[in-house]
Amino acid sequence: MRILVLNGPTLNLLGEREPEVYGRETLADIEAAVRERAAALGDLEIAFTQTNHEGELIDLILGHRDWDGLIINPGAYTHTSIALADAIAATKLAVVEVHLSNIHRREAFRQRSYVASVAWGQITGFGWRGYLAALDLLHAHLAEADRA
Ligand code: DQA
Repeated sequence: MRILVLNGPTLNLLGEREPEVYGRETLADIEAAVRERAAALGDLEIAFTQTNHEGELIDLILGHRDWDGLIINPGAYTHTSIALADAIAATKLAVVEVHLSNIHRREAFRQRSYVASVAWGQITGFGWRGYLAALDLLHAHLAEADRA
């Protein structure tokens, strides 16, 4: 089972970026937690990456379209990028959208997600633990699909 974990713009600054909103954990901390959980679940290959560039996010999604799952925190592209939603829709990846903050209790412009319309589901507001929840959910979902 292969799962790509993608992080969008400015998530490379986690830990120092508005910690009261996004938490004190760095992206490296989150990656370590995800890899630890993946090892515990077993039978999982994880690629974990971050980019500030919309086109690179799209290239990574399309380049991994034969993988099984995608966990994506698209950052601000969540709210702006039809191109990102189109790329996801072009694949058969099972997609969980993750946000550290609860986008539904923030500014109005953050409450619309283009990605949500092409995702299996969205986890928002649970901080870094949202990535682990996404991994657990995808792993169970994909294992079930495998057995069917
Ligand atoms: C975010 C929420 C977005 O609105 C914001 O632009 C981010 C981070 C989150 O994880 O809470 O960059 O995706």
